[in-house]
Amino acid sequence: MKRCLSMFFRPGLTILMALFLFIQADDAAAVAKSHQYGDVEMGQFSKDNMVRPVTFRHWTHRDKYTCRLCHVDIEFSQIPGETGILEEDNRDGRYCGVCHNGKDTFAVKECSKCHPKDKIHQKESIRQAKNAFFKFRKTMPPSMYGNKIDWMKAEAEGKINPIDSLPSVSFDQGTMVINRRDEPRTPKLPGLPDIIFSHSKHVVWNGCGMCHPESFAIETGKTEMTMKEIIGGKFCGRCHGTVAFPINDCSRCHSKPVSLK
Ligand code: HEC
Ligand code: HEC
Ligand code: HEC
Ligand code: HEC
Ligand code: HEC
Ligand code: HEC
Repeated sequence: MKRCLSMFFRPGLTILMALFLFIQADDAAAVAKSHQYGDVEMGQFSKDNMVRPVTFRHWTHRDKYTCRLCHVDIEFSQIPGETGILEEDNRDGRYCGVCHNGKDTFAVKECSKCHPKDKIHQKESIRQAKNAFFKFRKTMPPSMYGNKIDWMKAEAEGKINPIDSLPSVSFDQGTMVINRRDEPRTPKLPGLPDIIFSHSKHVVWNGCGMCHPESFAIETGKTEMTMKEIIGGKFCGRCHGTVAFPINDCSRCHSKPVSLK
């Protein structure tokens, strides 16, 4: 066991990794604070249309709903700005309006809960969200990066119980295909621990449609990916670095023990 752990401290590899991290330092500088990790600024239309841009916070939503419900059933894009939400969409009960209907939570007609009234109100909303975040985090299992919440453990321990379907938008999933296989990958750099991608761990949050057919081939070993592309936001990096735990957490993906005989 000690031998497995020591692999990260082998001198040659350590230098390579340090170099690797140095080259990527530019990207790393953009990492958000824990209370803002996963926030999406939505302002493509609102700026021109006399209302202030909206901050969508993943942490206030992912504790209640699965990624799949929003990104597959409700059709929010996983690329910022790509959904193209209009006021009438929300008023007609699409997108944010699916839940912000005055029953499940506050209604779309309470404009200023999403569009701050002015600069002062905006500052106040950010302050309130920050305080709410730290209060919430105290109740959750900790982790090192991102929101500094171990979301998987929170779900496994029943501290959160995200809803995966809503009658107004979801189809019956009873007949859907399931896939619980592990997909191991050996990185191109020798000596680095293998990555174990686990379907069973991902499908709790993400339905198949968040990763297939876009992003990943439905055939083991078919998808060509490099760490550089991942850090750049492709493949695993679309979620890991924006909403799910970020790339800093090397050994959470490069997790297969390496034997040094
Ligand atoms: C639950 C959150 C939420 C609430 C409440 C809300 N909006 Fe929005 N609204 C959004 C989002 C998200 C967008 C898209 C922002 C963007 O990309 O610019 C948007 C966009 C807009 C736009 C620009 C797009 C367009 O259709 O012209 C206007 C204008 C607007 N909202 C007005 C309002 C008004 C008026 C109210 C209150 C009656 C309101 N909104 C309440 C979330 C909300
Ligand atoms: C309540 C709905 C909701 C839930 C739940 C949700 N998302 Fe999102 N997500 C959104 C919205 C809205 C956007 C912004 C879309 C846009 O700008 O067009 C977004 C954006 C994203 C982006 C792009 C972010 C960026 O900064 O590049 C990713 C990646 C993403 N979501 C992944 C996830 C993952 C993974 C989960 C589950 C852990 C999740 N989402 C849960 C609504 C949701
Ligand atoms: C699947 C249901 C669902 C969808 C879709 C959804 N919300 Fe929410 N939202 C909620 C619930 C539930 C709360 C929690 C209210 C509470 O804690 O009392 C909430 C809270 C909020 C809050 C207050 C907390 C915070 O994050 O500051 C804002 C702002 C908000 N949502 C914006 C949005 C916007 C913008 C969208 C669309 C881009 C959206 N929501 C889509 C269910 C949803
Ligand atoms: C978070 C992303 C993600 C989700 C969600 C996901 N997959 Fe995958 N899937 C992958 C990756 C990564 C691979 C490996 C691709 C490669 O090696 O090129 C893969 C491979 C596969 C394969 C090929 C296995 C083989 O034997 O060749 C199948 C089949 C598959 N997925 C089905 C599913 C189904 C069904 C679901 C929903 C229950 C699902 N996947 C959900 C990422 C995902
Ligand atoms: C669609 C979004 C998405 C994509 C794409 C994705 N993941 Fe994840 N992954 C998640 C979410 C959500 C979690 C839950 C933990 C969190 O949010 O921090 C997670 C958790 C994990 C875990 C933690 C398992 C544990 O037991 O702690 C590993 C390892 C992981 N992902 C590896 C990968 C790898 C490798 C890839 C690319 C082949 C990948 N993921 C692609 C969303 C994604
Ligand atoms: C979200 C999961 C994930 C995290 C976190 C992660 N990696 Fe990777 N890494 C991968 C995947 C997937 C590959 C590609 C494997 C293959 O070749 O198929 C990879 C490949 C690599 C490679 C091989 C060369 C290359 O560019 O493909 C190196 C070196 C590497 N990672 C280093 C790191 C370091 C250092 C960290 C921490 C700063 C890290 N990785 C964090 C998933 C991850």
